[in-house]
Amino acid sequence: MAFENILCAVDAGVATVTVNRPDKLNALNAATIAELDACFADLAADGDVRVVVLTGAGPKAFVAGADIGELADMTAAEAEALAGRGQALMNRIENLGKPVIAAVNGFALGGGCELAMACTFRYAGASARLGLPETGLGLIPGYGGTQRLPRLVGRGRAMEMVLLGNMIEAVDAMAIGLVNKIYPDEELMDATLDVAKTLAGKSTLTLKMALQAVGGGLETDQAAGLRLEASLFGICGGSEDAREGCTAFLEKRKPGFRDR
Ligand code: COA
Repeated sequence: MAFENILCAVDAGVATVTVNRPDKLNALNAATIAELDACFADLAADGDVRVVVLTGAGPKAFVAGADIGELADMTAAEAEALAGRGQALMNRIENLGKPVIAAVNGFALGGGCELAMACTFRYAGASARLGLPETGLGLIPGYGGTQRLPRLVGRGRAMEMVLLGNMIEAVDAMAIGLVNKIYPDEELMDATLDVAKTLAGKSTLTLKMALQAVGGGLETDQAAGLRLEASLFGICGGSEDAREGCTAFLEKRKPGFRDR
C-alpha cells in the first residue's frame, strides 16, 4: 500500500515506520493517523515482520503532536470521535503482538508522546524533548496520554506533566522511566536497530506470549495476572521452541527457533 505521510521499509524481519511530514514536525493529521493505522494492520499480518521500529523524519522531531490546524474548530462530538480514532491507533500498536520500539529523535509532544507511549518501549536521542502540552491549548490528552503516562511513570509525575503541560528533557524522561535509554542523536537509529535485530532473532511465539503476559497482567489484579502468566507459560512450555531452546542450551549450541 502506498502512503503519502509515512514511510515503511522492511529489512531482515525489522520494519521501520517513519512519520514523514518533517516540515510540520511530523504532526499527526487525520490522514497520517489513518495511514499509520493501515500500515500497522499490514505489519501485524505480515509474517516476515518480527519487530517494528517507529521514528520521525528529519532532525527535529519524532512527532510534535496532533495537527493543531485540525483542532481549532471542532464540535464536542467531532473531538470525541477524533480521540476515538487516535486511541484505536495507539491500541493497535500496543496490542500488535510484536515488539514496537520508539526511536524518539526529537520532539515527542502531545499525540507524539502518546504514540511513543503506545510502543513497547522507548529509546531517545539526547536532544529529544517529551511532554503533553494539551492544557496550554485548552485541551487534555486524548490519544491515551492520561492513561498510559501514569502507568509508566506513576500518578504524581503524570499529574504534574498533564496539568502543567511542560516539556521535559530526555535525561529527565529517562529518570522517571518514560524512556529506557538515551543515545547521542546520531547513534539513536543504529542502536535501536541493533536491539530490534536482537529481538528479531528470538521466537515470535515467545515474544508474543511475553507481550501479553506483561501487558495483560498490568491491566488486571495480581492474582488474575498470575493466572494469565501461568496459562501463557503453558503455551510456551508446550511449544517446539521451548524444546529447542532448552535442548540447545544443554547441548551448548545456538537455538534455531521456528516460531511454534
Ligand atoms: N500541529 C501542526 N503544525 C505543527 C505542530 C503541530 N502539533 N507542531 C509544529 N508544527 C508546524 C509549525 O506550525 C511550523 O509550521 P510553519 O513552518 O508552516 O509555520 C512547523 O511545524 C515548524 O514548527 P515551529 O513551531 O516553527 O518550530 P520550533 O522549533 O520553533 O518549535 C515546537 C518547535 C515543537 C516547540 C513547536 O512547533 C510547538 O510547540 N508545536 C506544537 C506542540 C504541541 O502543542 N503539540 C500538542 C498538540 S495536541
